[in-house]
Amino acid sequence: MFNLILFGPPGSGKGTQSENIIAANGLQHLSTGNLLRSEITNQTPLGLKAKTFMDAGQLVPDEVVIGMVDNFMNAHPEAKGFLFDGFPRTTAQCIALDALLQQKGTEINVVLALEVGEEELVKRLLGRGATSGRTDDTNETVIRARIQEYHDKTTAVATYYAQFNKVVAIKGEGTVESIYTELKTQIDARI
Ligand code: AP5
Ligand code: MG
Repeated sequence: MFNLILFGPPGSGKGTQSENIIAANGLQHLSTGNLLRSEITNQTPLGLKAKTFMDAGQLVPDEVVIGMVDNFMNAHPEAKGFLFDGFPRTTAQCIALDALLQQKGTEINVVLALEVGEEELVKRLLGRGATSGRTDDTNETVIRARIQEYHDKTTAVATYYAQFNKVVAIKGEGTVESIYTELKTQIDARI
């Protein structure tokens, strides 16, 4: 298996770049944000619990997200590998993911970390909020709260994987195509 974490702050392009990467490499896309939004659409108990946190720009509790990831991975036993997008987001999620992968006899191969300046992130998310229907994109206060959660809790994910020399920084500003070219170079060198 080949397992990749596409890491970066809200609005750094994880979802956008994931589409090209999964198409080129046959990986299974695992976006916890997309899974949570689908739970909300379906009005499941998990979705109802997650919605309050998401609308406030806060992380959903670890145990909720980890259980959802475990279920998703077990539902895709045929996967050649996973592209993790928006997960893990805390050190506890990193440790839980390592344990889940170890049970399957595999591991994270690389963490590609998109780097984008804060004002560019806010501009992109406000721009998308005009049309996306994502409730957490419509107001700048919530967008800045998401970025603050990233600084407070999620940058620890890069620190965690750096101890295993698995992190590669990628400049996340420029055209979607030029950033993809850089991501592809790093993936092709490892897959
Ligand atoms: P999630 O859905 O993961 O959202 P996010 O991390 O806040 O990031 P986004 O999806 O907004 O950004 P992205 O990096 O995917 O960028 P995109 O490609 O869309 O999480 C949402 C919420 O769910 C969290 O706040 C939390 O509450 C909860 N949650 C999710 N996972 C969790 C977890 N593991 N633990 C706990 N809670 C969790 O691009 C953004 C915009 O920029 C788009 O409009 C795009 O067109 C544009 N764009 C992309 N690339 C470029 C470029 N190169 N130049 C110009 N514009 C660009
Ligand atoms: Mg996304």
